Amino acid sequence: MNSPKTIFSGVQPSGNLTIGNYIGAISQWVEMQDKYRCIFSIVDYHAITVKYQPEELKKRILEITKIYLAAGIDPKKSIVFQQSSVPEHTELAWILGCSGSYIADLKKMTQFKDKAGEKQDAVSVGLFTYPVLMAADILLYDTQAVPVGDDQKQHVELARDIAKRFNNEYGPSLVVPEAIVRKEGARIMSLSDPSKKMSKSDSNANSYIFLLDDIAVAKKKIMKAVTDSGTDIDYDPANRPALANLLTIYSQLGNRQIPRLVKDYQGKGYGEFKKDLAEVVAKFLIDFQNKFNNISDEEAKAVLESGRQQAAALARAKMEKIRQVIGVR
Ligand code: AMP
Ligand code: TRP
Repeated sequence: MNSPKTIFSGVQPSGNLTIGNYIGAISQWVEMQDKYRCIFSIVDYHAITVKYQPEELKKRILEITKIYLAAGIDPKKSIVFQQSSVPEHTELAWILGCSGSYIADLKKMTQFKDKAGEKQDAVSVGLFTYPVLMAADILLYDTQAVPVGDDQKQHVELARDIAKRFNNEYGPSLVVPEAIVRKEGARIMSLSDPSKKMSKSDSNANSYIFLLDDIAVAKKKIMKAVTDSGTDIDYDPANRPALANLLTIYSQLGNRQIPRLVKDYQGKGYGEFKKDLAEVVAKFLIDFQNKFNNISDEEAKAVLESGRQQAAALARAKMEKIRQVIGVR
């Protein structure tokens, strides 16, 4: 019998997670748990590539764990663990940094260019080699598929290239993974500017909705969301991107297909549509936050410890083989 496909993904414990993170990444993971061997990590060593507060990081690690659980990740089905608790991740990152990763590739990474901005030479080396650590996360578990939002596709492509080059040099030892990106909702856009992705680090608080936002505040943000010209409700991403984004959010959080929504809102205007969407978002958040609030710190810590043990066993075995192929054992 073929063993099930292995899935790996992760989110950084930096900042509050938005409904974009949920729709683009985490909700996709929940659906995969029954079919595949799933490993979901809280990638804390990625969160220290930019300035951060240690106390805050500590808090966020448990918060993200609870968010995974509240979203429906079941630790009986999936491995949930903290990246830094399995030191083989950084060990493999070093090896891949020496074999398979080129400076020229890393310089092309959109996320690096965005985060480093003008001062590319004055940011940390870690921010630059961030995608190599991400490749190590993925390749350490013989991962076949990586469910992520659209913006992480480029990093998964790089992990593929690194795996292929490593295999060329040392013989077949790493599985070449592929990215899995949602057809709808892979890129939830800012509520105040539909040309930018919704981001937890946006300076305009009206542009995003946090999973842990106050319900009244979240509703107001929907009512304030920009819309395009026109008055009817129609799905036309090229010409009416703001409305298309709101329809996508409605569809994903309200479990109603977009064509169905367009039909249901025929003859109705933006006002009514937004009011209903605000209710859909509120209902989703209330349910989500109820689950979140019912998970204790102790429970989250126990999940991480059990996940650590499972991930560590896999990582230990894989690293032993890799140390042998590269000639240090
Ligand atoms: P990050 O917040 O960068 O750690 O991203 C965590 C996961 O959420 C990654 O898989 C991202 O691709 C995904 N993601 C982040 N922002 C969005 C967004 N606006 N729409 C869809 N997916 C997103
Ligand atoms: N870079 C990813 C992000 O910002 C997080 C991440 C780190 C990740 N390692 C990973 C995602 C491995 C998938 C697989 O969203």
